[in-house]
Amino acid sequence: MLLYTLMLLCLIQSINSSIRTIDDCQLLIVGGTTSALGAILSASKFIKGNACVLEPTDWIGGQLTAELLSAPDFAGQVLRDKDTNFTLDVGSIDRQMDNQNPLFAKMLSVLGDTGRCWVSPKCSIPNLFHSEAIVPELNNTRIFYNTVIKRIDKDASGRRIIQIEAIQRTPIQSSTERCRFLSEELPDWYSPTDSAWFTKTQLSFTNIAYVMDGSSWGEALVLSNASYLQGVMERFDGDTSGIGDSTCGQAFTIDFLQQLRETPTDEPPNPLPEPTGGANYTFESLTWERIWTYRRVNTSAPNANIVAANDITIQNWAGGNDYKKEFFFLSLSDTQHQRDTNQWQGGVNLDAIQNAEREAYGYHYWYRNNSPPQWTNRTVLVRSVSATGTCHGLAKMPYLRESRRSIGVGDFLMNITTISGHARDLHGYIFEDRLCIGTYNADIHPMHCNYSSYIKEQYPILPFYIPLRAMTNRDIDNLIVIGKTMAQSFLVNSATRLHPIEFSIGQAAGVVGVYAVQNKLSKVADMLEEDHLKRVQTLVKILTPASWTINGTRYPDD
Ligand SMILES: *[C@@H]1O[C@H](CO)[C@@H](O)[C@H](O)[C@H]1NC(C)=O
Ligand SMILES: *[C@@H]1O[C@H](CO)[C@@H](O)[C@H](O)[C@H]1NC(C)=O
Ligand SMILES: *[C@@H]1O[C@H](CO)[C@@H](O)[C@H](O)[C@H]1NC(C)=O
Ligand SMILES: *[C@@H]1O[C@H](CO)[C@@H](O)[C@H](O)[C@H]1NC(C)=O
Ligand SMILES: *[C@@H]1O[C@H](CO)[C@@H](O)[C@H](O)[C@H]1NC(C)=O
Ligand SMILES: *[C@@H]1O[C@H](CO)[C@@H](O)[C@H](O)[C@H]1NC(C)=O
Ligand SMILES: *[C@@H]1O[C@H](CO)[C@@H](O)[C@H](O)[C@H]1NC(C)=O
Ligand SMILES: *[C@@H]1O[C@H](CO)[C@@H](O)[C@H](O)[C@H]1NC(C)=O
Ligand SMILES: *[C@@H]1O[C@H](CO)[C@@H](O)[C@H](O)[C@H]1NC(C)=O
Repeated sequence: MLLYTLMLLCLIQSINSSIRTIDDCQLLIVGGTTSALGAILSASKFIKGNACVLEPTDWIGGQLTAELLSAPDFAGQVLRDKDTNFTLDVGSIDRQMDNQNPLFAKMLSVLGDTGRCWVSPKCSIPNLFHSEAIVPELNNTRIFYNTVIKRIDKDASGRRIIQIEAIQRTPIQSSTERCRFLSEELPDWYSPTDSAWFTKTQLSFTNIAYVMDGSSWGEALVLSNASYLQGVMERFDGDTSGIGDSTCGQAFTIDFLQQLRETPTDEPPNPLPEPTGGANYTFESLTWERIWTYRRVNTSAPNANIVAANDITIQNWAGGNDYKKEFFFLSLSDTQHQRDTNQWQGGVNLDAIQNAEREAYGYHYWYRNNSPPQWTNRTVLVRSVSATGTCHGLAKMPYLRESRRSIGVGDFLMNITTISGHARDLHGYIFEDRLCIGTYNADIHPMHCNYSSYIKEQYPILPFYIPLRAMTNRDIDNLIVIGKTMAQSFLVNSATRLHPIEFSIGQAAGVVGVYAVQNKLSKVADMLEEDHLKRVQTLVKILTPASWTINGTRYPDD
């Protein structure tokens, strides 16, 4: 009887969802992070139609859009050597136009700084950033929206990905009727079976030449059984032994928007309970007003010191919606189990996501209730579908500060010594195989877990370089890893995780992917051979800087 029921279920499942084979995505970018966006925009300049992206939501751009953080940080650190007082203003070097990715700068200039925020030079409303700054650039791109990956098949050598199975969902109702939190909805995304909310199409990508892991969650790394590190799975920076705590990493955050009303406005009571173990909200050293203007995205006020009626702000606050009690990713064994039993759901901790949703809602109500008298009862959660893309008001996707991280060819990991040093060094280690640049502080939002003491030290981060080897994996020859999935240590990730850096990495990787496809290279690492490397570096430089300009001098000058 049980067997019969199972067979019937299988039959229903196969009737319900259709299967479509796609054999012309030779460069397949998994995931829609800021880095993946950079990659598809550069790849599409060189090959038309054969580069494709699988975006889990209906907004591409990751932390810029679906993770609801259209307040892109830039570096702000100023380094000073104690012995000589030599000073390097890394923040202003980073903001110089000749050190920026031109396309990223162009996208930021479309809306400009509508929020007069103080976290970033330019803060704007997330849905408008998506529709007005990003969408116009997507004219030549091929994007499969609402699509997650389910399974990866390799050739007999086990070193090449040849096929990827994905699930695309089509909403049945209008988005206003779909009001499930991600923690409830995520299993549905990964199920091939039609549900009350979605019909599903199983997509089978064949004839793949190269795969890029541009996902927020490092899913291609896991599903291809590639070596990777997760959390502080290292005893010291750059260690690839995998000995450490893979369930201790950075806090993650579920962002939301708030608006200040002209007059006191009722809010429905908080529909969610407290997170398990309670919550503890704090302004830390700031005031209500300073937090309000920190990531404000729309205002009529002239500057960041003034709060005004009708302001809209993004809440992404360490003392507020940062969720610190559980790690976002499942343990390695639970993750493997999900993969090996063909029950893949991203390998993420649904309890942690649910608690983070509760933490976020609780923070909204706490913040509203702790306003200065002038603003009493005037802070509301922005629940409009057009603004956040969800009816509950929380971001479509959690804002993550790290992902699963590749181990590169020859056990390569970008380590902290290559990006930090004395002010007088001016810049980080100049890798032979450098492709692009970036800089930001080593910025760790701690969870409640144990960190080795080296992680807690202060690291002076220089303007640095990203090498091609950081985009490789030691086990899978045709996998390119970008953004947070790169071959880098936990510490280095804490400094490369910012929007502009991820975008530049993606732009460089798009060229790498196209070059590998067009030259029929059998592995990414073949590109380290001098002739290939020189050509790739020359092409990348058309799109994004590979040298730092400091006081008018280029480092290196090539
Ligand atoms: C560095 O600056 C400090 C304070 O501005 C000053 O006391 C010190 O003498 C300076 N050191 C050198 C080497 O100039
Ligand atoms: C796509 O649109 C952008 C923005 O309008 C434009 O700059 C770019 O040249 C277009 N690309 C192509 C290939 O048409
Ligand atoms: C995954 O890789 C490990 C070695 O890294 C190997 O022992 C194991 O058999 C592989 N598993 C699968 C399912 O391929
Ligand atoms: C850090 O990276 C550099 C450059 O790849 C390498 O020479 C050095 O040995 C690495 N250091 C550690 C501690 O792994
Ligand atoms: C809340 O934070 C305060 C100050 O850090 C601490 O004393 C208290 O134990 C915390 N409570 C909970 C429930 O975490
Ligand atoms: C943003 O602020 C401007 C200036 O106050 C206002 O005209 C506009 O309507 C606001 N936009 C939204 C979406 O609130
Ligand atoms: C704010 O809302 C609370 C709860 O509805 C109410 O008791 C209080 O009077 C309101 N205060 C003001 C100034 O509107
Ligand atoms: C952290 O380390 C201390 C001392 O080694 C240990 O007692 C404690 O249980 C650890 N906490 C966690 C959350 O692992
Ligand atoms: C850049 O130029 C300024 C002004 O001449 C000088 O103060 C500063 O030390 C220079 N910085 C570097 C890194 O050369």
